Amino acid sequence: MLQPTSCPRLPSAFASDIRNFAMETNIESYLIEKRVFKPAKEFAKKARIKSLAQYQKIYRESIRRPETFWAREAKELTWQKPWKKVLDWKAPFAKWFIGGQLNLSENCLDRHLNGWRRNKAAIIWEGEPGEKRTLTYQQLHREVCHFANVLKRNRIRKGDRVIIYLPTIPEAAIAMLACARIGAVHSVVFGGFSADSIRDRIADSGAIALITADGSYRRGAVVPLKNNVDHALSGGTTVKRVIVFKRAGNEIHMEEGRDVWWHRELEYVDANCEPIAVASEHPLYILYTSGSTGKPKGILHTTGGYLLGIYSTMKYVFDVRDEDLFWCTADVGWVTGHSYVVYGPLTLGATTLMYEGAPNWPEPDRFWKIVEDYRVTILYTAPTAIRAFIRWGDDWVKKHDLSSLRLLGSVGEPINPEAWMWYHKTIGGGRCPIVDTWWQTETGAIMITPLPGAIPTKPGSATLAFFGVDAAVVNERGEEVGANVGGKLIIRKPWPSMLRTIYGDQERYQKQYWSEFKGRYLTGDGARRDRDGYFWIVGRIDDVLNVAGHRLGTSEIESALVAHTQVEEAAVVGRPDEMKGQAVVAFVTLKGSASPSTRLKAELRDHVGIHIGAIAKPDEVRFAEALPKTRSGKIMRRLLKEIASGQNVTGDTTTLEDFSVLAKLSEEE
Ligand code: PRX
Repeated sequence: MLQPTSCPRLPSAFASDIRNFAMETNIESYLIEKRVFKPAKEFAKKARIKSLAQYQKIYRESIRRPETFWAREAKELTWQKPWKKVLDWKAPFAKWFIGGQLNLSENCLDRHLNGWRRNKAAIIWEGEPGEKRTLTYQQLHREVCHFANVLKRNRIRKGDRVIIYLPTIPEAAIAMLACARIGAVHSVVFGGFSADSIRDRIADSGAIALITADGSYRRGAVVPLKNNVDHALSGGTTVKRVIVFKRAGNEIHMEEGRDVWWHRELEYVDANCEPIAVASEHPLYILYTSGSTGKPKGILHTTGGYLLGIYSTMKYVFDVRDEDLFWCTADVGWVTGHSYVVYGPLTLGATTLMYEGAPNWPEPDRFWKIVEDYRVTILYTAPTAIRAFIRWGDDWVKKHDLSSLRLLGSVGEPINPEAWMWYHKTIGGGRCPIVDTWWQTETGAIMITPLPGAIPTKPGSATLAFFGVDAAVVNERGEEVGANVGGKLIIRKPWPSMLRTIYGDQERYQKQYWSEFKGRYLTGDGARRDRDGYFWIVGRIDDVLNVAGHRLGTSEIESALVAHTQVEEAAVVGRPDEMKGQAVVAFVTLKGSASPSTRLKAELRDHVGIHIGAIAKPDEVRFAEALPKTRSGKIMRRLLKEIASGQNVTGDTTTLEDFSVLAKLSEEE
């Protein structure tokens, strides 16, 4: 292991990064990190990819002949009918494994039942109040088949959209797998989202059914999921049926003719359900994520390619073994939960741990207690959680034996080098490699990442592209930039787990991702590569915030604010935040009759909470008399970002309409 030679202090270095990529035309990055950690010999010896040279050889081949590489990988999956052609690429539309037929739940379940894995734990779950459940592959298979028949009984058919609004409990995985088993398309809505968010997603997807629970637990309180659903459905939607799982036992209303209990429905059907064969390109799920306009995008993933993406990354990035206990701490409502809590581990026949609640409930050592109790071997979590653990203090960690851990992962936002070092030393005991994995809802699977036995890591860098992923950093003209020059991160070739479209909006799909550089995928992130070709992701360069690892569109929050009766105009920007990565700052102008007050600030925050969900609540609301605009009327966000982060405004203000606005905004407390 090489010794660290420099130790930049953060977050100040990060703040300068964020400041710089915000200057949209000139993306720079000042973060220079010299520490390098080579994979330990012992780890490398047992890993699937054992050296940098081996990675480079396979990578080169996979880029030269991607179809050969992916076809070889895809042969390890179970196909009911083999494909005729690997890829049909008419940019920006990709079809993978044409002619092939398969079923995703069969790949996650049935194929593990023939041998000893039948009695292996598929899911180990712990509820926030402390209940424990283990489902073997055989048991999970039975539950999925049984529930798939409940879906059929409730007239849910192949291609129908089904909203899943559940906490991270085994039933979430069961519902997802049951949909896949019958070819229905699920759309999981994060349990922290509000009634309005559910309603929007129902309207956009045209879902005919919704699966939820009475309630879930969060920091000891019951989250009234079913109540939120009732609000979302009031006034009429396309949803005809609501299936309710009894989780928290809270009092709920059951609407006659619409709502049915999960456990009662099971009594009417048996547990035999063959997996139907669907085309490789059959839609698997829609997952909504924030973009740079007010309306969330329904990212559509299909079956064969998506499955292959998560299978290969699970295999090479986490290097999962039968004896591992894999714990991805994400909620099932996010893409990380889809790919690496449910589908990824199960496809590999691994054991996945699911935990329902908060990391600091009842005390800040809950995660470490879980690691110790179950002897977790691979832990995959987010920088925002890591920063919170650092703040809560090492004593909480030291109370527990974490020696079972052998590999650590990070996802969701750039990890500050100091947080990386803490993760490495305090959690990993200095012996566990860290895979800092860059990817997106749209990419379906990990795209840029170390392979733990092969690629030396540098704290803060996601290192190199995964096999078959042709990533590059380019300037405004689409030309690849040199070492340590900032630019836009793009992907130059299609990959199997890529999104196929934005549901119901082909035009937006084309425009958003493929129009700036024709035929190349625009990630929306800024990045640079260092002299070793390592990628350093700086963050979003569009109007999307990354708050505690969750994507929020500034215009979504603005739309919610403007919907308040007293708000005239709103502009939302991010400011660097030590804990959450970015904090949400809202600049608001009020209608004539309204006057600024602390109460109104609180009301506006709650208002956003009601319309989107608690995670979108502005950390700060600033009232202003006017917002700075260009002569053509565009709000100058760059200036607002600088004001929000307490900097002096340095950028070009020559097009600013009214200079006095700036002075007033800066004074605002
Ligand atoms: O900005 C990048 C950041 O998260 C964005 C994707 O967000 P979402 O679709 O919600 O998916 C999150 C989980 C995959 C990216 O555009 N991001 C994700 N992982 C990293 C990251 N930024 C830096 N390093 C990462 N490892």
